[in-house]
Amino acid sequence: MNRKDEHLLLAKAQQQNPKENDFDAVSFVHQSMVSISDDQIDLTTSINGLNLEVPFYINAMTGGSEKTKVFNQQLAMVAKATGLMMATGSVSAALKDPSVADSYTIVREENPQGLLLANMGAGRTAEDAQKMIDLLDADGLQIHLNVPQELVMPEGEHDFELWESNIRDTIDAVSVPVIVKEVGFGMAQETIQKLLDLGVQAVDVSGRGGTSFTQIENSRRKERELSYLNDWGQSTVISLLEAQPFMDDLTMLASGGIRNAFDIFKAVSLGANAVGISGTILNTVMSEGVDATIKLVEDWKAQLRLLYALTGKATTRDVQKNQLIITGAPKEWAELRGINLYNLAAR
Ligand SMILES: Cc1cc2nc3c(=O)[nH]c(=O)nc-3n(C[C@H](O)[C@H](O)[C@H](O)COP(=O)(O)O)c2cc1C
Repeated sequence: MNRKDEHLLLAKAQQQNPKENDFDAVSFVHQSMVSISDDQIDLTTSINGLNLEVPFYINAMTGGSEKTKVFNQQLAMVAKATGLMMATGSVSAALKDPSVADSYTIVREENPQGLLLANMGAGRTAEDAQKMIDLLDADGLQIHLNVPQELVMPEGEHDFELWESNIRDTIDAVSVPVIVKEVGFGMAQETIQKLLDLGVQAVDVSGRGGTSFTQIENSRRKERELSYLNDWGQSTVISLLEAQPFMDDLTMLASGGIRNAFDIFKAVSLGANAVGISGTILNTVMSEGVDATIKLVEDWKAQLRLLYALTGKATTRDVQKNQLIITGAPKEWAELRGINLYNLAAR
């Protein structure tokens, strides 16, 4: 089977039993007096000049085959109907084989005015980046970092030497905002510092807790001998704790394991400007169709308004200052890494 088609099916299979994850270890300090009225609530946010109506978007998934073209068209219909920003999957396949370019361009055709991000791996050059941006008339570019996936993938890349120079050159060369993202393994302070030093202005920490690409790629290996890497990486909550020192220097984005509006709200409360969703949207589109997914997105928007009100916060910026109590595994991690959780609890 085509690798991209296989990824869709395996990612959907992972959604069958929605897991507990580290968002369950985040809770709020309830305050009984909130001086706010519904008409003050403003869900808008921005990513380096891209203005979003709501603090969540459809994160990178697919393209590169006939089946993924249909799926991308469905995602674009959801994005258009709901006003969500959307990223395509890695556009590399279209540069290697122009006959599959339409599996990506369908997204722009379906939603000519929508905010659209192109996506590529960090092994790709600045020249490739420009071609992908032009192909989709993209408003921004995501560059993904996916070392664990490449190493577990039977046919994966094992040469990562040019990643840093490619990222630096691409940021210099292209005129749209660039987001460097993980693919579900999360980020550590040291990684984020390195990206900042390379000139990166927006980062999606994309952590563990939802889709696991080590698990997906391992199940494509004949002997499935690397299953011990299924849970490799930092959770999204832990990654956002690691990211705390950089909140003023970078546009912070989060994804990985978002199951509902409360997880989005928690990620924003931990400092994310906006939150990406892949697995949950994939599962809803594939199991229930476009209309049910549009309804899900509209429900989440309404629930976010309620959650902003519940914590007395009018804007997304205000939500980022919510008092948070972090317990369990993320607390243990923070203690060992010297990350101060009292700042979040009593701000
Ligand atoms: C089927 C599928 C394909 C994906 N392909 C890409 C990709 O091409 N580029 C990328 O940056 N991330 C890709 N991702 C990773 C997502 O953008 C996201 O980082 C990850 O799935 C974690 O989010 P989730 O738990 O909400 O799924 C893909 C995810 C899925 C489910």
